[in-house]
Amino acid sequence: MMGMLLQFLYVLFGVLISVVLVQAQDQSGYTEKTTSIFYISDAKFIDAGVSKSISPAEKSTHLQQLAYVRSFPSGERNCYRINVTSGTKYLIRATFFYGNYDGLNQPPQFDLHLGPNLWDTVSFPNASLSEISEIIYTPSLDYIHPCLVNKGQGAPFISTIELRTLKNASYVTASAESLAYYRRYDLGSITNLVYRYNYDVYDRIWVPHGFNQWTQLSSTLNHDIFQNDYKLPEVVMSTAATPINASAPFQFYWDPDNVNEKFYIYMHFNEVKILAENETRTFNIFMNGKLFYGPLTPGYLTKNIIYSTSALTGATRYLFSLAKTGTSTLPPIMNAMEIYKVIDFAQSETEQDDVDAITNIKNAYGVDRNWQGDPCGPVAYIWEGLNCSYDNTPRITSLNLSSSGLTGQILSFISELTMLQYLDLSNNSLSGSVPDFLTQLQSLKVLNLAKNNLTGPVPGGLVERSKQGSLSLSLDQNPNLCESDPCIQQTNNKQPDGDQQKNKSNIVILGCLQ
Ligand SMILES: *[C@@H]1O[C@H](CO)[C@@H](O)[C@H](O)[C@H]1NC(C)=O
Ligand SMILES: *[C@@H]1O[C@H](CO)[C@@H](O)[C@H](O)[C@H]1NC(C)=O
Ligand SMILES: *[C@@H]1O[C@H](CO)[C@@H](O)[C@H](O)[C@H]1NC(C)=O
Ligand SMILES: *[C@@H]1O[C@H](CO)[C@@H](O)[C@H](O)[C@H]1NC(C)=O
Ligand SMILES: *[C@@H]1O[C@H](CO)[C@@H](O)[C@H](O)[C@H]1NC(C)=O
Ligand SMILES: *[C@@H]1O[C@H](CO)[C@@H](O)[C@H](O)[C@H]1NC(C)=O
Ligand SMILES: *[C@@H]1O[C@H](CO)[C@@H](O)[C@H](O)[C@H]1NC(C)=O
Ligand SMILES: *[C@@H]1O[C@H](CO)[C@@H](O)[C@H](O)[C@H]1NC(C)=O
Ligand SMILES: *[C@@H]1O[C@H](CO)[C@@H](O)[C@H](O)[C@H]1NC(C)=O
Ligand SMILES: *[C@@H]1O[C@H](CO)[C@@H](O)[C@H](O)[C@H]1NC(C)=O
Repeated sequence: MMGMLLQFLYVLFGVLISVVLVQAQDQSGYTEKTTSIFYISDAKFIDAGVSKSISPAEKSTHLQQLAYVRSFPSGERNCYRINVTSGTKYLIRATFFYGNYDGLNQPPQFDLHLGPNLWDTVSFPNASLSEISEIIYTPSLDYIHPCLVNKGQGAPFISTIELRTLKNASYVTASAESLAYYRRYDLGSITNLVYRYNYDVYDRIWVPHGFNQWTQLSSTLNHDIFQNDYKLPEVVMSTAATPINASAPFQFYWDPDNVNEKFYIYMHFNEVKILAENETRTFNIFMNGKLFYGPLTPGYLTKNIIYSTSALTGATRYLFSLAKTGTSTLPPIMNAMEIYKVIDFAQSETEQDDVDAITNIKNAYGVDRNWQGDPCGPVAYIWEGLNCSYDNTPRITSLNLSSSGLTGQILSFISELTMLQYLDLSNNSLSGSVPDFLTQLQSLKVLNLAKNNLTGPVPGGLVERSKQGSLSLSLDQNPNLCESDPCIQQTNNKQPDGDQQKNKSNIVILGCLQ
């Protein structure tokens, strides 16, 4: 579990910044009184799941946005679709508070996906606490698909999804990796409160963290002195931790679950003391005994950020030691730290044009299937009736909407699935002509339009390809196809059902002699 356990503290906040908030509650929106954050209903972003209220006893002790959940008792994978700006860095946070909403006193365990990739596994070591999964992620498409996946250990549910845009130049990683929250500490806190929006314009959640070898330093800061790309809250940066033993190094460590895990660390420094002329505070930062950065002299009320320029990996323990230099009169300090774990989003999302086309097809025909999230990925949850190719960007290669109760015309959206090799629209109630745009599907090898109510002539390009043998074309049982033309096999169309059954495996090619 990469998420963190957190009990919400009631801290007063100001007005809202540019955030999109989704909430599993069927109302248009409301402002959370304790935070002044405006929450909107998630109804526009999903068409599955049911809204449920947490138990009344839990409601009184939690923030309003956790009072309802959206629960997913049916469907293996259920997905939100949230429009975003591609190429923009986001902090995305999903919050889960069980609150015994189902009366079972048994929190479920389930997976959280982002598009075709596993984001997190959500479990509840302590049912009375909320679970949070948070990532820093730059979407490559104009939408994201957060999905909840049932693993047979109870119905998934979700309380909130929150998105905030970050500065592109912040949380830089060597190869544009996505970062999952691991630790985020406010060091030297004198209030021992959790701070988020609007102390933090990006609504990062800062958890106070102390250690019995450390003590606190603090100062009062002026406004607007930390306007760099990371925009750390003043309240966090105005306090620092320092070793009690002034000659000892400042140390901390973490142990990864396995040596292959990759981390990025961001350390934030700010001198909180006005140093006398004969005082200096300079130190080196070592990781596992090797110089990581140094020497560093934190500026007074000017923020320094020291971070890993490539992922840290390969160790069973990451021990950081900040040791004062020989000439330094004062011990090291640190004001805040963030540690993120690289999250492997290796599977590409399906080509956006294909997703747009298939989404339009779904909406226009009212396709009654569990078609949510990325159409092609992960492979285990590929949309029923589709097949895809997976070289680099997944593409839809096969569409089977046979026996799906489709009515109306053959939609031109279908011709936007440009890599389609197999198209089966048989046994529906499609009417109108066989459209010419189907000839644009250059890769099409199988086209089955049998058992519909199509009319008129068949485009010559399709007939030509089927004669050449590059296209297997089925048009039988469309009684009005080519009605007024001297069509060959016209009579075939009017065979009684029994005979048709016998010749079911034959591909009936119907050519118009016009
Ligand atoms: C998301 O974007 C698509 C395409 O631009 C648009 O059709 C849809 O209405 C948007 N959804 C929401 C909830 O704004
Ligand atoms: C769960 O967390 C609450 C609040 O921190 C705590 O009071 C309770 O003891 C915890 N329960 C368990 C089983 O750890
Ligand atoms: C964001 O930064 C990366 C490098 O850090 C750069 O490649 C990319 O073009 C930037 N994107 C935007 C939208 O500025
Ligand atoms: C303080 O730290 C120094 C350097 O690590 C050590 O030699 C000394 O014993 C420590 N003093 C106490 C009282 O722990
Ligand atoms: C710095 O100077 C002050 C007096 O101005 C003195 O009390 C203090 O001990 C000196 N500190 C150091 C580290 O030399
Ligand atoms: C998709 O591929 C699988 C496995 O090759 C095949 O069994 C299935 O019929 C295909 N479905 C469609 C719609 O082409
Ligand atoms: C196409 O879908 C129909 C109805 O769902 C199914 O019976 C048929 O096996 C599918 N064909 C392929 C090739 O998967
Ligand atoms: C054709 O579709 C209907 C319902 O739309 C279904 O009952 C029937 O079984 C389908 N026939 C075949 C051959 O798939
Ligand atoms: C087929 O279409 C014709 C009009 O083109 C209509 O009169 C007829 O009712 C339709 N048949 C079915 C079975 O939908
Ligand atoms: C069915 O196919 C067989 C052999 O392919 C053919 O001889 C026969 O005439 C066909 N039946 C009809 C009714 O078309």
